[in-house]
Amino acid sequence: MSDTTPPPLEADFRLLVQGVADYAIFMLDATGHIMSWNTGAERIKGYRPEEIIGRHFSVFYPPEEYAAGKPERELETAIEEGRVEDDGWRLRKDGTRFWANVVITALHDSDGTLRGFAKVTRDLTERRSAEQALWESEERFRLLVQGVVDYAIFMLDPAGHIVSWNPGAERINGYRPEEIIGKHFSVFYPPEDNAAGIPARELELAIDDGRLEDEGWRLRRDGTRFWANVVITALYDDNGILRGFAKVTRDLTERRRAEQALDERRRLLGHLVHAQELERRRIAWDVHDDSIQSMVAVGMRLQLLAARLPEEHRATLSSLDEAVSGTIGRLRSLVFQLRPTSIDRHGLVSALTDFIRDVVIGWGLKPGLHPGDLTEEPPTETAITIFRICQEAVTNVHKHAQAKTVDIYLSTVDRGTMTRVIDDGVGYSMPGGRPEPKEHFGLIEMRERAETAGGWWSVTGTPGHGTTVEFWLPTTKAPEAKT
Ligand SMILES: Nc1ncnc2c1ncn2[C@@H]1O[C@H](COP(=O)(O)OP(=O)(O)OP(=O)(O)O)[C@@H](O)[C@H]1O
Ligand SMILES: [Mg+2]
Repeated sequence: MSDTTPPPLEADFRLLVQGVADYAIFMLDATGHIMSWNTGAERIKGYRPEEIIGRHFSVFYPPEEYAAGKPERELETAIEEGRVEDDGWRLRKDGTRFWANVVITALHDSDGTLRGFAKVTRDLTERRSAEQALWESEERFRLLVQGVVDYAIFMLDPAGHIVSWNPGAERINGYRPEEIIGKHFSVFYPPEDNAAGIPARELELAIDDGRLEDEGWRLRRDGTRFWANVVITALYDDNGILRGFAKVTRDLTERRRAEQALDERRRLLGHLVHAQELERRRIAWDVHDDSIQSMVAVGMRLQLLAARLPEEHRATLSSLDEAVSGTIGRLRSLVFQLRPTSIDRHGLVSALTDFIRDVVIGWGLKPGLHPGDLTEEPPTETAITIFRICQEAVTNVHKHAQAKTVDIYLSTVDRGTMTRVIDDGVGYSMPGGRPEPKEHFGLIEMRERAETAGGWWSVTGTPGHGTTVEFWLPTTKAPEAKT
């Protein structure tokens, strides 16, 4: 090679290399001795060119790496593979260490002879400590979240799918992480809330206001409900792009029960309902034991009389007889509206059976009663509430549903009784997502009764596919709710 000045392009290249301050860029000869040095190398490693040129590059390696033969090995790898990249600790001139990203490239001339190596080193100490801090804080955050069992803490993606799950969520909602991650969070909402579009609305509100807090019934994996306090927070990245939502849920069922028990209004309502039931029972028994029995006796006498009277009076008598039977029928249904007499004597299923036989069949509905999963007979107070709600629900089916069938399902669930009244009629539709009271009180009364008893109640309908009234009442009464 001649001793002339390098062609312009090489000069430009040298300027470029020498000017770069962010990277140490220098050349090694074939045995690893330093041949060139740039601004970046000086800045990062602290040597001036005259101090370092000619020395072996292994001076940059900490003693333990040097002892392990790392510098040699890196050159060998660079020769074999063309280049080698490595992250690791390197030494500065003053002996301090920095975290380096190193790329060594083998340089060959045109006839393939090894000329040496290009070495590019970046000081990643800053980035590494930032990453470390981030990783540590993420790790801390992960540990924190994973340790919490009192709260369900999990993340949703921007569309509302679950992307993380903690033990609190598992304890409260009942799902294992592998069962729930990837699912949409609307699975936690009762059908009536989903029908009303509440999950999507909550995300929208969280986006609008940054966060949203709500209390309401939520579903566990097994379909049972718990009273939840929910906070949803929208999460944005540094660029202001929505990354998803943090959701923190607390199970307030116990607290709600206690609060409800202490709620003065509910206690009064409870007393009122109880007094009303007592009075109804008294009247029902009077009507049943007195009025109905008398009418039955009248009917029997009429029949005896009919047998003795001449032919021409038979027609009059039989119309009288029909009137009497009609009255007995109406009195029976009055008794049922007042108080199913059998509930005190034979329990809920018996009372519902009588109600169906004496009242519902007369409406031309095909009824079904399915108590198969009722493993525990509810206490009388609860049984009466269940009966009342069924009565109103089935009456609504008769009045509004134009249904052919109505089915009542009873089951023992979650220390309480779950009841479903399902019809195949026109399908109830909620005005504006929630039942809107005007002059109709049936739905409100059902809900009030259920909630006064410490339970929940819901109605859902699909147009053309019927209506389901569903409610759950605890079997263990709230401590203060005695009437
Ligand atoms: N099973 C059902 N199928 C279809 N629509 C229903 C059903 N149950 C209730 N509805 C609708 O909901 C409305 C409200 O019912 P609710 O029981 O509160 O009032 P009501 O039966 O009209 O009057 P009340 O019960 O006060 O005598 C009804 O008017 C009806 O339109
Ligand atoms: Mg009604």
